[in-house]
Amino acid sequence: MNYLAANYLAIKYLHITAAALSILFFALRAYWSVAGSATLQARFVRIAPHVIDTVLLACGILLALVIGPNQPWILAKLVGVVLYIGVGTLAIKRGKTPGKRAVAAIIAALIFFYIVGIALNHNPLSWFS
Ligand code: HEM
Repeated sequence: MNYLAANYLAIKYLHITAAALSILFFALRAYWSVAGSATLQARFVRIAPHVIDTVLLACGILLALVIGPNQPWILAKLVGVVLYIGVGTLAIKRGKTPGKRAVAAIIAALIFFYIVGIALNHNPLSWFS
């Protein structure tokens, strides 16, 4: 725990970098999915998002362990990230038509934006707090 606390800032910047990469990659893949591009099947494009999202989640959980996870805004972020990933798979894989995938992509991006508001305000109400 001491080791974690000593590296809190480094973990936080890794968390924020992973969050930025996550939404960038998501936007690209959603575009390729709606456009029906074969780039979506490239090995790197299929694997990198899992690595990025795992780093994002793992760093978030480590940070939460240091500051005490039992806070409404942290629980709200956890719920948010599950929704973001769930709706995200609709946008990229499970949505049957390009139109449905596009709508899911917009909803996933809005969920992400809501989570950033939770992170910056330390409040589940996000930008509305
Ligand atoms: C899409 C998902 C996520 C995004 C976009 C995101 C974004 C961010 C951002 C931008 C910060 C920096 C806030 C600041 O400097 O004031 C941050 C910090 C933090 N995040 Fe996340 N996060 C996400 C998921 C998570 C999850 C799932 C957890 C926990 C389970 C988590 C826990 C934390 C904690 C504990 C901090 C440190 C807060 C502080 O030191 O002020 N995050 N997050």
